[in-house]
Amino acid sequence: MGERPVLITGAGQRLGAATANRLMDEGCYVFVHVRSSINQAEALLAAAAERNGRRCGEVVVADLTDDAAMESLVSTVTNHEFVAEHGLHGLIHNASFYSQSSFEETGLETYRSLVRLHMEAPYVLTQGLLPALEQGGGSVVAIVDTSWGRAWEGLAHYTSTKAGLRQLMLNLAGELIGRVRVNCLAPGAIMAADWEAEHFASVLEKVPLGRSGKAEDIASGVSFLLNHPTLSAHVLHVDGGWSIHEQ
Ligand SMILES: NC(=O)c1ccc[n+]([C@@H]2O[C@H](COP(=O)([O-])OP(=O)(O)OC[C@H]3O[C@@H](n4cnc5c(N)ncnc54)[C@H](OP(=O)(O)O)[C@@H]3O)[C@@H](O)[C@H]2O)c1
Repeated sequence: MGERPVLITGAGQRLGAATANRLMDEGCYVFVHVRSSINQAEALLAAAAERNGRRCGEVVVADLTDDAAMESLVSTVTNHEFVAEHGLHGLIHNASFYSQSSFEETGLETYRSLVRLHMEAPYVLTQGLLPALEQGGGSVVAIVDTSWGRAWEGLAHYTSTKAGLRQLMLNLAGELIGRVRVNCLAPGAIMAADWEAEHFASVLEKVPLGRSGKAEDIASGVSFLLNHPTLSAHVLHVDGGWSIHEQ
């Protein structure tokens, strides 16, 4: 049991939860990281255990903007009996915070928290879990987005830190080549945040395929990147062709 342990950040609900479900159903033992969605994560694990007839993972809690909490997360995962025995099969940087506010109104505190969540946390977690990833022949997948090179209104704090995450991952892909594969997945308009629910239809009009993807499309893309023996330094766009649309 527990041959392929995987850590997914921000996996209590929405796209992260869909990915956790997919990987648990494929036989992975998933550390379902949450900050506040503990009940949702426990329900997810209970349903997966019921479906698969085995314990499929566990909840790990940490605020990824807190240094001590991150350190403790690394140590919990590293010292877990399955990771000690098998190493880590996957590390998925999924946690995020998506909110729109004009540049003038977005203060340094908000910006710093996104730098921490999108860049520092993936840096610290990848560094701390590197020995376990190498031991497990594992790989890293970061969930970025399709904003690269574009201007999204009221989202400079979000898009610039996602760009930092993408560059961090591509640099690590080169630096760690032959040791750990590192890839990114860029979702398009998949699941509306509460604040954008009303205008999501107009966003979808810009998607060449004419519809949003499903959470399961993201999950299958992550699984593909995680398990592919050769892919590294790749950014997989799961966006219905949105990335070629000109704004
Ligand atoms: N939804 C889309 O259509 C879309 C489009 C493009 C890219 N993406 C990317 O795909 C990924 C998943 O999207 P999503 O919409 O499912 O994400 P989301 O709901 O915005 O966020 C995922 C989780 O991140 C966690 N999180 C937020 N702040 C945290 C903190 N300080 N410490 C630890 N965890 C924290 C939250 O956990 P708790 O609930 O436990 O607090 C939240 O449930 C994200 O990286 C997002 O940027 C999504």
